[in-house]
Amino acid sequence: MKVLISTTFSTQTCGTVIIPILKAESLGATLESIGQTFNVSIDRLKTDIKGDFKEINHFYNGETRIYLLGLGEKTNSNDIIAAARNLSFTQKSKFNGGRIAIDLIHSNLTESHAVQSMVNGILLGAYRIGLYKSDSNGIHPLCQSEAELVVFVDGDAERSEKEAQKALLTAQTQIQIMDLVNAAPNIKTPQYLANWAIQSGEKNGFSVQAFDKKQCIELGFKALLSVNAGSQEEPRFIVMEYKHEKAQKTVGLVGKGVTFDTGGISIKPSNNMHLMKSDMGGAAAVLGTMELVAKLQLPINLIGIVPATENMVDGAGTRPGDVIDSYAGKTIEVIDTDAEGRLVLADGLAYMKKQYNPDVMIDLATLTGNVIAALGYNAAGLFCNNDTLSNALLKAGEASGERVWRMPMWEAYFEDMKSDVADIANLSSKPVAGSITAAKFLEFFIDNHTGWAHIDIAGMALATTELGNHRTATAYGIRLLTDFLESWV
Ligand code: BES
Ligand code: MN
Ligand code: ZN
Repeated sequence: MKVLISTTFSTQTCGTVIIPILKAESLGATLESIGQTFNVSIDRLKTDIKGDFKEINHFYNGETRIYLLGLGEKTNSNDIIAAARNLSFTQKSKFNGGRIAIDLIHSNLTESHAVQSMVNGILLGAYRIGLYKSDSNGIHPLCQSEAELVVFVDGDAERSEKEAQKALLTAQTQIQIMDLVNAAPNIKTPQYLANWAIQSGEKNGFSVQAFDKKQCIELGFKALLSVNAGSQEEPRFIVMEYKHEKAQKTVGLVGKGVTFDTGGISIKPSNNMHLMKSDMGGAAAVLGTMELVAKLQLPINLIGIVPATENMVDGAGTRPGDVIDSYAGKTIEVIDTDAEGRLVLADGLAYMKKQYNPDVMIDLATLTGNVIAALGYNAAGLFCNNDTLSNALLKAGEASGERVWRMPMWEAYFEDMKSDVADIANLSSKPVAGSITAAKFLEFFIDNHTGWAHIDIAGMALATTELGNHRTATAYGIRLLTDFLESWV
């Protein structure tokens, strides 16, 4: 599959042309020029085409099917991606014959991220959710090896070329990561995550170590091991290192890798429990970012850590009331075994700080249902002890459309995490502000690092889309972190 840029418009050899249109003042003039270029009735275009979000219209120009894709008033990259992806997915059976083109010359979409967003969205529409279906019908035309996506642009072809290649690499990584998050939890074991990392490292040029259970015991990942106690599957502590010779800064990423969360002895209700296969969404964001940063050869040093385990129900499992130890040497009273994410992250963060002490340390986790109560499915919760870092992440969130929203971290919240018997409890004594008290728990394990951010992505790892009946993987975090890292080098 190839993505090409062309500054001269021609429908020749294109079976499909997609023109994104914004519902803006410029729409009238844009439709006039489209009518003239393709010799179709301007009046019909003007009555039929509103430019609403995800609106799809088409007409023919000879053998070529020309789509007008409505974007509404939205210029946010995530919305453009969603609209393009929806068209690419729903229209794939009609994408036959020749190249598929994105036409930005006749479009009124002029945003600087237009090429990236459109290419990314059209490519993501090729994603197949049916990982385990016996028949492999319905392969997207863009997935054929000889497929070509051409983008017609005005102006700076060199810049567009870069943007298009980045969008291609991004989409390829996101699709791998969506497969990983959507993978069944009996298949996606901690070892499976480790293998994924090892293979990606070999292919893209970063080093990977995956500590097995014996090594985890030797190294003292006691909080991770306590979550793993009820599981038949061994834990893995995955450490990835990407180095660049021109790097000025080192960034550390830690991702929650709970491959299935039953809640443990504090068992969850069975409603939608199957979706807890996505409780490694933070790990997925870290794995995907490692891969994409290596592909893009960003001039930065990047460390990725994924503590991976299941959280299962078993006689050998940790009990509510148990007191456990941790890599940091701090004791934890486990009030609720369903608050397991913070336990595995405690070891991940403490190890990151002790072994690498990176300039910046960011963890991502599907950590609390409570962050969904606060922000819904539109933004991840950002908890940060550094204003410069926080602002850079907020900015990357806006630019990528993978939004984050800052939450407070006042010391008063820590009071509720105090244990009567141990150094800290894993659950607040009050049933309020659950995402904040979780963040305060994590802060206890960063050993006073002054550039730390925690991103609670519980509401963002999955979304309802055109792909199917259930919520499915979004690959959230990869574009957010990559945009952030590009700005941070
Ligand atoms: N993995 C869950 C959080 C979650 C909830 C992710 C919904 C995605 C969607 C986490 O391990 C958990 O169980 N959190 C508890 C914390 C509570 C016991 C303090 C929760 O949110 O209820
Ligand atoms: Mn849980
Ligand atoms: Zn969990």
